[in-house]
Amino acid sequence: MSLERLVIFDTTLRDGEQCPGASLNIKEKLEIARKLSALKVDVIEAGFPVASPGDFDSVKEIAREIRGSSIAGLARALEKDIEAAARALEKAESPRIHIFLSTSKTHREHKLQKNKSEIIKMATDAVRFGKRFCDDIEFSPEDASRTEQDFLCEVVEAVIDAGAKTVNIPDTVGYAVPDEFGALIANIKMNVSNIDKAVISVHCHNDLGMAVANSLAAVKAGARQVECTINGIGERAGNAAMEEIVMALKTRKKFFGADTRIDTQHIMPCSKLVSSLTGFFVQRNKAIVGKNAFAHESGVHQDGFLKKKDTYEIMNPTDIGLEESELVLGKHSGRNALSKRIRDLGYKLNDAELNEVFREFKILADDKKDLFEEDILSLIQKQKFSEDDLTTYKLENLRCSFETGKASEASVVLVSRDNKRHESKASGDGPVDSICNAIDRITGLSCKLIDYQVMSKTKGRDAQGEVTVRVVSENREVLGKGVGVNTIEASGFAYINAVNKLLFKSKSGPLGCGEISGP
Ligand code: KIV
Ligand code: ZN
Repeated sequence: MSLERLVIFDTTLRDGEQCPGASLNIKEKLEIARKLSALKVDVIEAGFPVASPGDFDSVKEIAREIRGSSIAGLARALEKDIEAAARALEKAESPRIHIFLSTSKTHREHKLQKNKSEIIKMATDAVRFGKRFCDDIEFSPEDASRTEQDFLCEVVEAVIDAGAKTVNIPDTVGYAVPDEFGALIANIKMNVSNIDKAVISVHCHNDLGMAVANSLAAVKAGARQVECTINGIGERAGNAAMEEIVMALKTRKKFFGADTRIDTQHIMPCSKLVSSLTGFFVQRNKAIVGKNAFAHESGVHQDGFLKKKDTYEIMNPTDIGLEESELVLGKHSGRNALSKRIRDLGYKLNDAELNEVFREFKILADDKKDLFEEDILSLIQKQKFSEDDLTTYKLENLRCSFETGKASEASVVLVSRDNKRHESKASGDGPVDSICNAIDRITGLSCKLIDYQVMSKTKGRDAQGEVTVRVVSENREVLGKGVGVNTIEASGFAYINAVNKLLFKSKSGPLGCGEISGP
C-alpha cells in the first residue's frame, strides 16, 4: 500500500512560545530549532518577526543556521509584517512566509470591522505582496472553523489564485469536533476549484481536548499538512501535540494512508528539552511522552506484557528514543571522558565552555556519587543557556535554617555586576519564603511567587532537583530556573535567575507578542 507524505509544521517556537510564561531566549530557541531539525520536521515556524526585536533576531538566527527544514515566519496581512518576516528569513535555505487574517463573522465585525469583500482584498493583496519576497506563501484564515463555509471556500480559492501554496485551516478557538472538522476539510477539497494547486493544512487548538483528534480527522479527509507543537504547548489549552500526531500515524499507517518523515527517536529528547526550557512540565499520564506512558503497573498487565509485549504495548518505547537513563560518569572521570560524553549527547562545546562544565562536574561529583545522563545535560544546559549578559546579581552564598513550628531564617550574599557584595537576612514562612524575602531586601523589587515546582532530574535520594519558579513584579511575569542536589539552594538560584530577568526587562522596556493586536 502506498502511503502519502504528511508535512509536519512545527509551531513550538511561535504558537507554543506565545503562551503566557513560556518565553524563551534566543539561545534556547536556537537549541530547540536544532532538535526540531534533528527530528526532521518539514517546516519550523520560528516566530513572529514583527512582534519584537527579540523575535526578529531569533527567526533570523534560526534561518541562518538550520538546514534541511523550511523556516517560516508569521505575519499579519500587513505590508510591514510581511517585510519584517521576509527580512528575518533572508538567509533561510527554504523560507516560508505565513500570513494570517481573520475570516469569521465575529472576528470580521468585532475585531476587524471589515466586510467580506474587504477581507478578500486584504488577504489577496497580502499574498501577492508576500510573493515579491518569497515563493512559498502560506495563508491562514484565522478562526476558519467558525467561518461561514461558502465564504471560507471563497477566501481559500482567492488566496490560491493570488499564489498561496499552502492554505491552513485553523480551529483557532478549539471549537471543532472531529466529524465536523473532517467534513469541513472534505468540503474545501470538493468545492474549491483550484485546491489541487495548494496543500491543505490544519492547525487545531485544544480547548475541548480534541486538537489531535480533529487534526487526524482532517488528515483522513485529505489534509496533507498538520501544524502542531512539542508536548502540545500553545495558546490557552495548547495546540495539537506533535508526538501524538506522528505516533498515531506511524502506529496506524494503514488506517490513515499517510506517514511523516519524522525521525521518531528524537521525540523524547526534544520533549524533555522543551519542557525544561519552557518550565511546562509534562503530565505523567500524557500520551507518548508522559513518564507513565510505557509503564505497566497492574499485575495482570505485567504478566501479559512479559509473555508477549504486544498484549499491552502498541508502540515500541525505543521508537521514541526512550531509554533507561545510563549511569555515565563518576568522581574520578577525567576531562576527556566528560568531553566524549558531551559529544555523544550531541553537543559541541568550545574549550572555555568545556572547562566550566568540567569544573561544575567535579563539584557535583563531590555531592553525588553517581552521575547520570540527565546530570550532564543539566550542566551543559546551564552553560549553554546562561544569561550572563542579563545578570545583575549572582548568588554567592546562602544560609538557611528552619525548625518545626518556628519561622525560617535566611541570610544571603549577592554580588552585583560592579563586584560589590550585598548581604541581607530575613525570616519567612518556610525556607523558600525567607530566601525570597532576603533577596528582595537587596534588589528592592517586590515580587510575587506565583508558581514553584521541583522535579528530580534522576533517581535516588541524592538526585539533583530542578526548581522552576514563576515570578511576577509590576505585571511582568518571568520564569526562573535553578538546579542542584540541595533543593533549597536551587530555589535560591531559581529565584535570583527570575529576579535578574525582571531587572533586565525593566531596563529594556516592554515588548512582546502579547502587545501585538489585530488585524
Ligand atoms: O490559532 C490560530 O489561528 C493561529 C494562526 C496564526 C494560524 O495561530
Ligand atoms: Zn494557533
